[in-house]
Amino acid sequence: MQKIDTIGIVGLGYVGLPLGLQFARSGVKVIGLDIDEAKVRSLKAGQSYIHHIKPEWIQEQVARGQFDASSDFARVREVQAVIICVPTPLNKNREPDISYILNTGAGLAPHLQKGMLVVLESTTYPGTTDGELREVLEKGSGLKAGVDFHLAFSPEREDPGNPDSQVAEIPKVVGGLTPACLEAATRLYGRAIKRIVPVSSCRAAEATKLLENIFRGVNIALANELKMVYGAMDIDVWEVINAAKTKPFGFMPFYPGPGLGGHCIPIDPFYLTWKAREFGQSTRFIELAGEVNTAMPEWVVNRVADALNSRRKAINGSRILVLGLAYKANVDDARESPSYVLLEKLKSRGAEVGYHDPYLPVVPPSREHAQWAGTKSVPWTETAIKGFDAVLISTAHASVNYRELAEWAPLIIDTRNALAGLTVKPGQLWKA
Ligand SMILES: NC(=O)c1ccc[n+]([C@@H]2O[C@H](COP(=O)([O-])OP(=O)(O)OC[C@H]3O[C@@H](n4cnc5c(N)ncnc54)[C@H](O)[C@@H]3O)[C@@H](O)[C@H]2O)c1
Repeated sequence: MQKIDTIGIVGLGYVGLPLGLQFARSGVKVIGLDIDEAKVRSLKAGQSYIHHIKPEWIQEQVARGQFDASSDFARVREVQAVIICVPTPLNKNREPDISYILNTGAGLAPHLQKGMLVVLESTTYPGTTDGELREVLEKGSGLKAGVDFHLAFSPEREDPGNPDSQVAEIPKVVGGLTPACLEAATRLYGRAIKRIVPVSSCRAAEATKLLENIFRGVNIALANELKMVYGAMDIDVWEVINAAKTKPFGFMPFYPGPGLGGHCIPIDPFYLTWKAREFGQSTRFIELAGEVNTAMPEWVVNRVADALNSRRKAINGSRILVLGLAYKANVDDARESPSYVLLEKLKSRGAEVGYHDPYLPVVPPSREHAQWAGTKSVPWTETAIKGFDAVLISTAHASVNYRELAEWAPLIIDTRNALAGLTVKPGQLWKA
């Protein structure tokens, strides 16, 4: 294995960019590769397009000559290792779409050289790295994985919005095609990350990532189910979870919400479900959790209807503000956000809808929710908020002033327990 002093990172999104900067800080030169020219241009100019990545971090590494961005795949010839962090969405039939991985593999292959290391980080089903990715790399390069070049999988564990989550501190699981591949990948990540957790194969590493996300999806579904069951018994599920979490062992809190969001938890479980079918295995637990979570927006909209009904109003004709568009608190990422589903459901029942999100002043373009692109966040003023019949809290950003909300909004439907501890008027607050 040759010494690694320069690496390529393909896909400079929420995963690839912070990872690249961490390697750059650790003394490894990084060439970031992306097909999105706008991203490449902004990185070269020292600008960030991700809220929690500060422009100074990029500028510092660019100035030190440690980080460069490009859309030219031929620059793979300058590196000794490549890490792939491209998207792995579902297609319109809700099946895994690994085309981004395969296109990247095909783009890399002609530039692969003997002794290089290729690591996949994108979340995917077991067998992608040693199956489809390996094939496309071997075919395009004429080299053999595990013999001429090293191949490994290492799942990403980003925690967006958590200021304490630093790439270097999060243990990194790594699996290689051969023991030598594992050793090469372990050595590479060891340069930038404190603790490496080797596992026996690429498949075990791929499966580890799926377990982590399925665990969250299933437990969120349980919290959502208990929210409905306890709610019917007039018991506040938030109070129950907060009490239960004082148990110092055998319990971990998960919280209910308006539905799943982001590009991991609503999507990744279906990568396993799809692959399991090939082995004649069913994934009932995972699918049931998906069903419960998917039903949440409709349940929440029905709570909005109940709340308005208590004021002799209907959704039809009411002005309703969805508070929080991002899929989780304190991030600017609205991909797969349940807020879109809420806006759409309320609108289809005749409401006049708006949203407020300090992180997203304008709705970004997206494939799934194109109709909202360009819509502007309602300003946070007393007049504007008082002009709505109801405010539905979908995402509880910490920077929102909930005290003002309680003063101004006539009716609040809270899916996040954001108003906990604040004084409200009788009948003003509905938990959902
Ligand atoms: N964001 C997270 O918190 C997170 C956490 C864990 C795992 N993941 C996984 O990591 C992977 C990447 O996620 P992300 O959130 O960084 O996605 P992202 O959409 O933010 O970034 C992906 C980047 O890849 C680029 N790209 C697409 N095709 C390309 C190609 N052929 N060549 C070069 N660049 C290409 C895109 O332009 C984009 O900049 C996914 O598999 C995701 O499931 C994400």
